[in-house]
Amino acid sequence: MRGHRAQRVAIAAGELFPQLTGVLMDGQRAARAAAIGSRRVSAAARSRRGEWYGKPEHLMTAPAVRTEGSQMYDELIAVHTIMRRGAELTADAFARRAAGEPVGTKALVGTARRLVAFVHHHHASEDEQFWPVLRERFPDAIAALDGLTAEHHALDGELQGLTEVVDALASGSAGDAVARGTTAAAKVRDLLLHHLDAEEPALVDLMPQVPDEEITRLREAIVDGAPKSGPDLVLGLLEDPDRPAGYDHLMGNFPPPVRWLCPLLPRCYRARRKALGDR
Ligand SMILES: [Fe+2]
Repeated sequence: MRGHRAQRVAIAAGELFPQLTGVLMDGQRAARAAAIGSRRVSAAARSRRGEWYGKPEHLMTAPAVRTEGSQMYDELIAVHTIMRRGAELTADAFARRAAGEPVGTKALVGTARRLVAFVHHHHASEDEQFWPVLRERFPDAIAALDGLTAEHHALDGELQGLTEVVDALASGSAGDAVARGTTAAAKVRDLLLHHLDAEEPALVDLMPQVPDEEITRLREAIVDGAPKSGPDLVLGLLEDPDRPAGYDHLMGNFPPPVRWLCPLLPRCYRARRKALGDR
């Protein structure tokens, strides 16, 4: 009985998340303004304790010269981790469904749609908001940034293909949608992983050099436009199987209402994975 009650609360928490995210944003802004001075010290302390994990050392920013841009780079790694794991989860679930394993249509459709929205928003934010700042400051990086934008467009084409298949599945006119979805989800995963592996080395030395005020403005603009659905998926992937660099900072900035809900969301995440046939 207690478990059912907690699950209902967790579902309600998920429905409330869009409103709470607004609170989160306000809390993040206030916390950032107060924390800029102390962050460099805490980042260096975390590094000394060996808490940089999830990426090779050459792809982490140097703790001794921490800036807002360094912090945002680590947040970018955390976001990329969500995208990598989400793409793998979706592709694996389609493959299981194609192999005849029990995979729920609702969970498959919902997870794929959230992945598409998350990845599309992230890349649109880079192309429309972040890259113009980097192009202006680092003319030598323009060709690399143009290449990353071209990869975003190629990925958008694959995301569109996955969306069409998912819409067919959701409408009940499946036909060969599962087979096509398996191919489309695998393409999205492979292209995305290749793209992120190329993007991180291109940005690791640039982002820490962007002035703090510019980074703060960009962060607020990007967060304001972010999709708010599927909080269990976002937070679950951020923890499973381990926490990437940038995790502590993101979670530490959550205002109390969101921190209260965080322990409940993993139940929804585990239920989602189970519905996707993940044992
Ligand atoms: Fe990108």
